[in-house]
Amino acid sequence: MAYPGPGGYTWRMTSSVSVHLHGRRVILGITAGIAAYKAAALARGLVRAGAEVQVVMTPSAREFIGAMSLQAITGRPVREAIFDAQHEAAMGHIELARWAELILVAPASADFLARLHAGLADTLLHTLCLASEAPLAVAPAMNRLMWANPATRANIAGLLGRGVLVWGPAEGEQACGEQGPGRMLEPDELLRRVAGALAGGRFAGRRVLLTAGPTREPVDAVRFVGNRSSGRMGFALADALRREGAEVCLVSGPVGLETPPGVERIDVETALEMHAAVMQRLDALDLFIACAAVADYRPVGPVSHKIKKNADVLRLELVKNPDIVAEVAARSRRPFCVGFAAETDGLESYAEDKRRAKGLDMIAANRVGPGLGFEAEDNALLVLWEGGRTRLPRQPKARLAEQLISLIAERMDAQTTTEDS
Ligand code: PMT
Repeated sequence: MAYPGPGGYTWRMTSSVSVHLHGRRVILGITAGIAAYKAAALARGLVRAGAEVQVVMTPSAREFIGAMSLQAITGRPVREAIFDAQHEAAMGHIELARWAELILVAPASADFLARLHAGLADTLLHTLCLASEAPLAVAPAMNRLMWANPATRANIAGLLGRGVLVWGPAEGEQACGEQGPGRMLEPDELLRRVAGALAGGRFAGRRVLLTAGPTREPVDAVRFVGNRSSGRMGFALADALRREGAEVCLVSGPVGLETPPGVERIDVETALEMHAAVMQRLDALDLFIACAAVADYRPVGPVSHKIKKNADVLRLELVKNPDIVAEVAARSRRPFCVGFAAETDGLESYAEDKRRAKGLDMIAANRVGPGLGFEAEDNALLVLWEGGRTRLPRQPKARLAEQLISLIAERMDAQTTTEDS
């Protein structure tokens, strides 16, 4: 299905998303922004998935999209006016706030977010956000400099702190012609996130960052130092977390795996690239899982040409890479940190040493060697945390991932309870 966008630009819905939202009640808030035209496709996707959708627009959103098309798609008149005699005779805004199981504001402009953060209630949409107990998600869309502005950063940090789900923005070409973060997430992705949030999994509303796969450290133009990690364990964890409602970002080394549905994936090659990708994404993170087999060392000054095989003995000088998980765990405001330990012997003692040395909340130790840990379809884990341990027996990595994240959820909840008491 194609929708005309501004300037004759046409946006096409892939319709590859299969989600079921039968009878779920969603308020779709639309604010003023060029991305508002995509809200029609989003409304269509929600309706097709079976949801009941009530569109609520801010007055200036009308400049970007007409209410008639949204009414035709959802089968409900669009609401906009805060002082609406027809509905307000019976306290319509409160009734609507109670009706919603989820409020999604897409696109959410910088102005809308600022007012939401300030607790203003000067539009029907803001009033509903204040008056509803339903989960509230926003999909920001704005120019990259507006997104980077300290005022917007502070508003977003404050909203995240209050439990608002902030979905996106994505990076890419902007309507203004600039390049950077600020694009609204695509309707398909928002649809998946709505399904995740309404499913109410154990990780609903939590933001998770994972590393997975190997790193490749270049020696020359064609050779590298690497390892046998296939990425399977990390990808299985990303998939399990997503299905439990988490917002998942996966930083992956070079692997031949498909991205699990609904997971944001960042591809990197070297340990330094992985380090940079992780450090940029620590904002408002609840959980960090380091499953990647990061090269501890990299060749000093890789050469740009192919080294000739003239010498009988070739010496490679190596320099230490930054320890990504230790650096995340050492930060003052940090997520719950889970590491892995790949050991050929002394599994428990080496893993516990690593847990303490890197300051981790939990470590999952696996034996590695021929047919074990790396590359294999299945795995077994010994999981250690302060004052506790448990064994997860050998099984497919997908099932193991489900058990490990359930353990992580328990420990995270236990930590929150201790901090609160
Ligand atoms: O990818 P698969 O084929 O499915 O295999 C899965 C796996 C065996 C790779 C996985 O289960 C695993 O054990 N991953 C961690 C491998 C590893 O590098 O372990 P380590 O003991 O060397 O490192 C300890 C921890 O520090 C790990 O969490 C690692 O991600 C992290 N680390 C290490 C070095 C570094 N520079 N930065 C890091 O963050």
